[in-house]
Amino acid sequence: MTSSRTPLFAANWKMYKTLKEAAVFFETFLKLLPQKMEEEIVIFPPFTLLYSISSFIGTKIKIGGQDLFWEKEGAFTGEISPLMLRDSGCHYVLIGHSERRKYFAETNSMINKKVLSAFEYGLKPVLCIGETLEEMGKGMTRQILTKQIQEGLKGVAHSDFEKLVVAYEPVWAIGTGKADTPSQSNETIRFIRETLSDLCGIHEADKIRILYGGSVKPQNIRGFIEQPEIDGALVGGASLNPEDFARIVFSRVLS
Ligand code: PGA
Repeated sequence: MTSSRTPLFAANWKMYKTLKEAAVFFETFLKLLPQKMEEEIVIFPPFTLLYSISSFIGTKIKIGGQDLFWEKEGAFTGEISPLMLRDSGCHYVLIGHSERRKYFAETNSMINKKVLSAFEYGLKPVLCIGETLEEMGKGMTRQILTKQIQEGLKGVAHSDFEKLVVAYEPVWAIGTGKADTPSQSNETIRFIRETLSDLCGIHEADKIRILYGGSVKPQNIRGFIEQPEIDGALVGGASLNPEDFARIVFSRVLS
C-alpha cells in the first residue's frame, strides 16, 4: 500500500443477506467506524438491498452493484442498467467476477461492454481478473491476465483510467480458504500495473487502485496490505460478519 492511492476495502456479499440481516450488520458495523478514516469502504450487496441500504448508511460507506447490463433501458428481462444502479445510490459496480464468468458465461467482450457502460453512466468499475488453478498449473497466469485486461478495457478513454479499480482474484483462492501469498500476489499485481501502463501510460496506471481478493480474513490481511502494490482487498465470506470486516478494514490501526 502506498500513500498516494486511497486504500479501498470492498465487501462482496454475493447472494447473501435479507434486508433484516443487512440492518443487523450495519447496526454493528457503523459503530465500529472511527470518526475520521482514510480508508474507502464499498459494500456490494444484492440488488434488492441497494436502495434501502443507501438510505441508512450515511456518507462514510459507499455501495455498488455486483453486476450490470450495458444498456440504459429496454426489453431485457431480469437485467439491471447502469442508470438504475446510479438511481439506487451506487458509486461502484463489480464487473467480471469469476463467478459471473464461470456460472453465467461472461466473456471478456461482454465484460468490456459493461466496463464502457459503467464509465458512460458515471459508475466506477471494479474489474475482477484472475487465473484458474488449471491455468496457473500450466504457467499461464500472466497470459490470462493480459488477455483479461486488454480485452476487458478495450476502448476505455484515457481520462477514465484513474477511476478504474482492478481486483486481482486468483480463482483458486476464492472461497477456498487458500489465499495467495502476499509476496506472490504483490508480484502479480506489479505485473498487472505494468500491463495497465501499456494501455494508459505509467502516470495513469500509477493512480489505479489494485486490490487483492481470495480468502482474505482478519488473520491474513496485514500481510497483503503491507505490500507496496496492493491497495486494499475485495472480501467475500469474511465481509458478511461486521466485526471481521471491520478488523480487515482497520487492521493497520487495530493491531
Ligand atoms: P472470498 O471471496 O473472500 O470468500 O474468497 C472473494 C470474492 O469472491 O470476491
